[in-house]
This record gives sequence, C-alpha cells and structure tokens, in this order.
Amino acid sequence: MKTKITELFGIEHPIIQGGMHYVGLAEMAAAVSNAGGLGIITGLTQGTPEKLTAEIKRCQAMTDKPFGVNLTFLPSVTPPDYPGLVDAIVESGVKVVETAGNNPAKWLPQLKDANIKVIHKCTSVRHSLKAEQIGCDAVSVDGFECGGHPGEDDVTNFVLLPRAADELSIPFVASGGQADARSLVASLAMGADGINMGTRFIATQEAPVHENVKQALVAASELDTRLVMRPLRNTERVLVNPAVERLLEKEAELGSKLKFEDIANEVAGVYPKVMTEGAMDSGAWSCGMVAGLIYDVPTVAQLIDRIMSEADAIIKQRLAGFAA
Ligand SMILES: Cc1cc2nc3c(=O)[nH]c(=O)nc-3n(C[C@H](O)[C@H](O)[C@H](O)COP(=O)(O)O)c2cc1C
Repeated sequence: MKTKITELFGIEHPIIQGGMHYVGLAEMAAAVSNAGGLGIITGLTQGTPEKLTAEIKRCQAMTDKPFGVNLTFLPSVTPPDYPGLVDAIVESGVKVVETAGNNPAKWLPQLKDANIKVIHKCTSVRHSLKAEQIGCDAVSVDGFECGGHPGEDDVTNFVLLPRAADELSIPFVASGGQADARSLVASLAMGADGINMGTRFIATQEAPVHENVKQALVAASELDTRLVMRPLRNTERVLVNPAVERLLEKEAELGSKLKFEDIANEVAGVYPKVMTEGAMDSGAWSCGMVAGLIYDVPTVAQLIDRIMSEADAIIKQRLAGFAA
C-alpha cells in the first residue's frame, strides 16, 4: 500500500510502532521494520547518549530497513541529556525521529540539517498545527483511547482524526486504539495516511518484554484501563491493577492537594519491574483501551501481514460492495 507516510519514510506498509518505554528496544524496532513497518527505539529507555548509540548500532545489525528513535520531552527536575541524545541520533545516521511530550522546535534545526524526518506525536489539533508550523514532516495524532499520555482534552479519534484532516497540510497517522485492518481502513477513511500502534505491538512474539505482560494484554478487556495523574495534569492511561487502585484512592482522597511525591511509589521505577521482571502489580504502566481487541500473540510479521491482507479485503470486498 502506498500512502504519503510510506513515501515519506521509505517503508512498505503505513504502520508505525510508537516509542514505548522499556519495550522499544532494538529487537522490537527491528522486527517492525523488517516486517515493512517503521520500528522505533525509545531514546529515554537508554537514557544516555552512549547507551542510545549502542542500541541504535544493535538495531542496525538486525535490519537494513529504515527505523526511528523516539525522543520524549518530559518535565523533569533533572532532565536527561537531550543535547547528547540528539547528537547520538544524528551521528548514528538514523533518518527518522518521533518526538513527543512537548514542542520539539528547539531540536528541529539540528535534525533537519541532518536530513532527518520528524514525526511529532500529539493529542490535539492545535498541537498538530503547531508541529506543522514549526516544520515537522508529519504528525501522529493520538486520540483519547491511547495507551500512555492522552493529554487533557479527551477527544476520541472518531472526531480528532477528521478534525486533523480538515486542518493539516502535512500527512498524519492515526494513533490510539489501532489494532487491526479495521483500524487501518477506518483511519485512512478519516484522512490519515497510516496508523501508529503501541499496545498492540507489545503482544507480539518479538516484543522484548516478560511473557506476563503479553498474557495480561490478551486477558484484558476494553474496560480494564484507568486514567491516573489527572489531578497533576499529566494524565496517563494504564492497565488497572491493585497498585493503580491504590493510586486512584490517594487521588480521590487528596484531591487538588495531590503532589507527585504522594504517588511516587505507584509510578516511579515501575517499567523495569513490569516489562523485564514480569511483576505485573508493581505500579502503573501504560496500556490502551485497544487491549480489548488483543486476542493473540503473533509474530510482528504475522500481525502486519494480517492487517495488510485484511485491509485489502475490507476495501475491495466490504467497502466496494457498498459503492456498487
Ligand atoms: C507501555 C507503553 C509505553 C509507552 N511509552 C511511551 C514513551 O516513552 N514515549 C512516547 O512518546 N509514547 C509512549 N507510549 C505511547 C505509544 O507510543 C503510542 O502513542 C500509544 O501506545 C498509542 O496508543 P495504543 O496503545 O492505543 O496503540 C507508550 C505506550 C505504551 C503502551
């Protein structure tokens, strides 16, 4: 399938794997890129420029297809070495960067000079337009359903995507709630040029996470996510578990007095425990409502091939039937 996104990134299928903390390692990104999508290494999981350089090299050894690096800009008391991470990306020859979390304007000149395509992930039309205005090549439009940080506007993709299509000139992919061929075809119908998937890619053979995480996603339904940290205006959609219930009780109890320190036990340092050790109840970890649409743990190639072949059937049979 050819779309503006496949052309922009030089990939076969319009499917991107969004950056995911402790999931977007070289194995994940290479598997997605080798299957014809765009895999993404998560920069902050590596943390330092040296480690990121090594992870990019590992990925380059596993695939000769294009892949990207995610740079998430978070408010932080001791910020990561962003200048060093950007240098590492530029020097490693990576050609795509997915930015998220904050306006990436400061880093665009250096990335553009290095001929790197930038796709900015954001959760509103106004931030998408800002991304276009500052020179991003594409946007990943992340609806309220998404795993991770859906922002504070709570607009679902059925409205957000056509709104983005009405306003944007640069291409965009639909992110949040994307699982299968139906997601892809619907997103294309609403004006997107592809899809970005997070949660769905975790339940694959190659995802470098503990088996417990994959099985938790297969077991979860669309009712099993919760929004945490809303009082801090840092809303995150996570899979419910006893630690998340505890966190929500504290939020309800403390109301507007809630501070990060009150919930640090439930949100800090959770990812290695969950993703690497499989200790599922360690705290809050991102998960999309799309968990309800995850029934199996295929290989990445099986997943992407299934999406593409079923999309073809939906377009040529089901939809063509309506047009007749
Ligand atoms: C476990 C997990 C970790 C994530 N970590 C990040 C991250 O570090 N940076 C980022 O930009 N997005 C992160 N995301 C968001 C994804 O890149 C993607 O935008 C989101 O998962 C899309 O929604 P979906 O889960 O419904 O597919 C994460 C998502 C998940 C599920």
